[in-house]
Amino acid sequence: MLDVACGTGLEDKFLKLSFHVTGMDLNSGVLRIARRRNPELTYLSGDMRTFRFENRYDVITCFDAMCYLRDHTELRKTFRNFHRHLLNGGVLVFYLDPVFLKEHHKQDTIVITKKHNQEKHITLIELYRRKGRSVEGNAVYMIQESSRVRFEIDNFETFGFFDVARIKRMLRDTGFRAHLYSGGRNITFSLRKYNQHSPYPIFVCEK
Ligand SMILES: C[S@@+](CC[C@H](N)C(=O)[O-])C[C@H]1O[C@@H](n2cnc3c(N)ncnc32)[C@H](O)[C@@H]1O
Repeated sequence: MLDVACGTGLEDKFLKLSFHVTGMDLNSGVLRIARRRNPELTYLSGDMRTFRFENRYDVITCFDAMCYLRDHTELRKTFRNFHRHLLNGGVLVFYLDPVFLKEHHKQDTIVITKKHNQEKHITLIELYRRKGRSVEGNAVYMIQESSRVRFEIDNFETFGFFDVARIKRMLRDTGFRAHLYSGGRNITFSLRKYNQHSPYPIFVCEK
């Protein structure tokens, strides 16, 4: 399988328990961390919109990254590229956070996430606001290490703003049979079918 936009390879730690995984990302810095985390896996550099690999895969995943595409035109280009790299009968799995979806977006959404290990407690506070055809995101990290607390401010990023109905049509036009499931806030996967009240559409697309 190919894990597109694999980041630091966090998901690959679990995916490799069941699959022969190749990871791909745009950013060479995160790939270095991914290679350290999963030294037995192959990691390649590439842009999801334009990459061309010789291999064809049974599964392509793209987690927490489609939002970096600017608009539906880039999304269509990326779907075509994924389709090209899948074997017949292969499956593409991805999700989009509700904040990037017309059907679910709420202006000024604040998301608070907490993570910790033995040395550090990290609280991430994100604010998302819609601006025309994109969504702007700002983030602050509060890092508690022993008795010290420091703050890191993430420069604002611009994300795409998409439409579930349009994505479904584009997937169909690209040659996918798309099945939408209902996910939870922490991307828990359920086998319940997506409806407009489901907070988190998870797309499972068969070639
Ligand atoms: C929020 S991280 C998600 C990482 C990982 N998939 C996860 O769920 O932990 C988003 C990743 O997408 C990558 N990315 C953004 N745009 C990309 C593109 N056009 N092609 C490939 N990777 C991209 C970034 O470099 C970053 O590592």
